[in-house]
Amino acid sequence: MSPFALTRTLPVDTTGEALRADVRAGLTAKPKELPPKWFYDARGSRLFDEITTLPEYYPTRAEREILLDRAEEIATASGAGTLIELGSGSSDKTRHLLDAMRDLRAYVPVDVSESALREAGEAIAARHEGLDVHALVADFTAPLVLPGTPGPRLLAFLGGTLGNLLPVERAAFLASLRAVLAPGDLLLLGTDLVKDEETLLAAYDDAAGVTSEFDKNVLHVLNRELGADFDPDSFRHVAVWDAEREWIEMRLRALREMTVKIPALDLTVPFAAGEDLRTEISAKFRPEGLRAELAAAGFAPAEWWTDRAGRFALSLWDVSAD
Ligand code: AVJ
Repeated sequence: MSPFALTRTLPVDTTGEALRADVRAGLTAKPKELPPKWFYDARGSRLFDEITTLPEYYPTRAEREILLDRAEEIATASGAGTLIELGSGSSDKTRHLLDAMRDLRAYVPVDVSESALREAGEAIAARHEGLDVHALVADFTAPLVLPGTPGPRLLAFLGGTLGNLLPVERAAFLASLRAVLAPGDLLLLGTDLVKDEETLLAAYDDAAGVTSEFDKNVLHVLNRELGADFDPDSFRHVAVWDAEREWIEMRLRALREMTVKIPALDLTVPFAAGEDLRTEISAKFRPEGLRAELAAAGFAPAEWWTDRAGRFALSLWDVSAD
C-alpha cells in the first residue's frame, strides 16, 4: 500500500471561531446573509450528494461527462507530478483523472472534512501503487501551505464552487492560487455557465425539495453549534436569478415575524415577515468574463471544454510568467 499522510492546518477550534464570527456579521448585516460553507456538516454533505443525483441539477453530471471525455488530454497537457485538488470531498470525479495521469507521483486532496479526506485518501492510496497521498485538512479560502511534492503541479478546483465567491473574493482567491504556483504548473477549473433562467431556477429549487432541505440545513447547524432556536419550518427556500450579476441566490424567507435567540453569541435576531436571509450565491460564467478574471490573476488560457449540451465548462490555465 502506498503512503497516506494527513496534515491538519486548521487548529481544532478555528471552525467554531469562524462560525461565530460569520454568523454574528451576517445576521446583523442588512440584508442578512450567511456564507455557504456552513451548509456542509455530515447531514448537509449527504443532502448535497443527493442534490447531485437530482434530474434538475445538471452541473455534476455535466462536469463528470467532460472529465471522462477529456481525462487523457488533461493528463497529456499537464504531465504533472502532483495533482492538488481543492474541496476534494469524496474525490469521486477525480478518480477519472488519477487513472489517466501516469506521471503522477503525489495527490494532495484539500478539504475541511477530515472524515471525507481519510476515506477517499486511503482508498486512492490503496488503488494507486507508488502514489504518495498527502491530504490537507484546510479551508481553501485561507492561505494554502502545500507540501513539497514533485512538479509540475496541476491544481484542480472543480464543481463550480468558484461561483460561491463574490467577484472581489474571487479576484483575491485566484491571485492566492497563482501565488502558490510556478511557471509550468496548470490550473484546472470547473465552472457553471450562464444559460436560460428556467433551467437555472429548477436546478436550485427542485421538485422533490432536496435543495430546500439543504438550504434549511444551515439553520440546523446554527441550532446545534450555537444553541440557536431557529424554527426551520418558519422559513421558505427561495431561488432567485440575478440577471444583471448573473448569479443564482438561495435565500431563506421568513414566513412570519419572529425573534431568534443565539445564546453562544449573546445575540437576538429579529426577522420581519417576508424578510430574506441570503445563504448562497452561485455565479454562472461566460468564457470572456472568466478569461478576464483569470488574466487579472496571472493565468493564461490553455484549453476550454464543455459538455455536449454546453451547460458547464472545464478549463485549463497556464501560469503566466512572473
Ligand atoms: C457545490 C457550491 C457548486 O453552487 O451549485 C447546489 C452548491 N447549492 N445546490 C452550487 C449547491 C445548491 C453547488 N456548489
